[in-house]
Amino acid sequence: MQLLDGKLLSENIKLELAAEVDTLRQQGGKIPHLAAVLVGEDPASQVYVSSKIKSCEQVGFKSSLVRRPAETSEAELLQIVHDLNNDPDVDGFIVQLPLPKHINEERITLAIDHRKDVDGFHPINFGRMAQGMPAFLPATPFGIMEMLRRYNIETSGKHCVVLGRSNIVGTPMSLLLSRKGYPGDCTVTLTHSRTKDLPAEVRRADIIVAAIGIPQFVKGDWVREGAVVIDVGINRIPDASKKSGSRLVGDVDFDAVAPRCSYITPVPGGVGLMTVTALLMNTLKACRKEIYP
Ligand code: GUN
Repeated sequence: MQLLDGKLLSENIKLELAAEVDTLRQQGGKIPHLAAVLVGEDPASQVYVSSKIKSCEQVGFKSSLVRRPAETSEAELLQIVHDLNNDPDVDGFIVQLPLPKHINEERITLAIDHRKDVDGFHPINFGRMAQGMPAFLPATPFGIMEMLRRYNIETSGKHCVVLGRSNIVGTPMSLLLSRKGYPGDCTVTLTHSRTKDLPAEVRRADIIVAAIGIPQFVKGDWVREGAVVIDVGINRIPDASKKSGSRLVGDVDFDAVAPRCSYITPVPGGVGLMTVTALLMNTLKACRKEIYP
């Protein structure tokens, strides 16, 4: 079994990005600028947004954080999105989800200029991705694709089982892996809460992508010998042996599954770090106008 080391990979990619920024600076080009909008006090969202801002600093990108209280109205948030759409210095921006319940996430997503949608959540980017056209790919699936590529993991003709059909991870992952090319050319099964006999589906997988948000859900005897396991989950569970009283686990029962795999992503230190790095890669593409010249 080999660990897919998201920490090492993301550090390598960040070095590459920092070198690109140096080159841009020497050529007098524009420095990539990512903005993040955080509404409310959701603790996980605060951690994710800080990590995105910190990663920008590490590679020399410019970053801005727009923080607003949970009581912010939808109209006020739409105005912020409008201003970011029209700010020529901002190459790309994200509105951190989830939003407070009184704000319609769909209306906000649709208001973001697709040319600055570095989260890849706008239906224009999603549709272009589905058709294999240049698009901003959602950060987690993009990070996973990069991980498969950089570890040279064979995907052609493999049977991939994705657990979870969210718009941000499961559904785009299933599309990307079924597309022509590398990584891709998989036969994909997209499973969800109504799937019958999920363990039997997972047992057929050469590649498993677990993105359901249930701690340690995928059991050891669901996993075929030699499978590749990508664990997207970030769940906090009680652990009395830790000073904090809790620890992070994935959607996979790591101790039971790892000995059966050829490759597996750890939690933490796997997919999560790749997600942030993929967002930086998208921001550089936005700055260079690679997707939308
Ligand atoms: N909430 C959970 N994941 C994400 C993400 O990738 N982007 C944004 N904007 N919000 C999220």
